[in-house]
Amino acid sequence: MDANRPLFIPVILGTARQGRASEHVARLVFEEIGKRAGVESEFIDIRALSFPTTDAGEAIKNTEFSAQMSRADALVLVVPEYNHGYPGLLKHALDTNLKEYIHKAAGICGVSAGGFGGTRVIENLLPVLRELGLVTIFWDGNFSGARKLFDESGKLLDDSYIKRIHTFLKELIWMTKVLRYGSKNITL
Ligand SMILES: Cc1cc2nc3c(=O)[nH]c(=O)nc-3n(C[C@H](O)[C@H](O)[C@H](O)COP(=O)(O)O)c2cc1C
Repeated sequence: MDANRPLFIPVILGTARQGRASEHVARLVFEEIGKRAGVESEFIDIRALSFPTTDAGEAIKNTEFSAQMSRADALVLVVPEYNHGYPGLLKHALDTNLKEYIHKAAGICGVSAGGFGGTRVIENLLPVLRELGLVTIFWDGNFSGARKLFDESGKLLDDSYIKRIHTFLKELIWMTKVLRYGSKNITL
């Protein structure tokens, strides 16, 4: 694989809820990733994946989603806080892959109505990502009071978030490069 090819870092919108504020966050982060040189992205909405609920794990693989995870060098997960946890549907989708994730970087953007920027859902999701073989970064996106952060058209009402998103992306991109270099050059 060409070590100089652009990094591929898709954004996963981790809830299917009607009226989800997380969609505004995910679209914003996706837009900001598009401004980073040497990075390509895709917007993945777990609502659109429509996984069956009569089975779980690799038994219900979605060919396109698995191909996106294989191609990915890293993931951004935009995850709302629901009773301090993550949406079950996100876990259901993530569980459909395993080898596709190994030694790839993952960054989480927590989204909450409350004032803690989804920190509790982030803490709960970290061990899941670790078990999937992903390498989590020490920086997060934290979106508090999410239902009031955007206007009805999805326009961000507080520009201070842009700088924070780029600090998060800078760390994620660094880790992505390190892991891609390591996977290619360092024997396990
Ligand atoms: C089932 C459910 C549980 C929730 N639990 C919490 C919570 O524990 N803490 C919090 O700050 N907000 C909580 N919220 C509010 C969401 O975090 C809020 O709607 C936020 O905008 C992110 O979710 P959304 O993308 O679905 O809008 C909850 C919302 C739902 C639907």
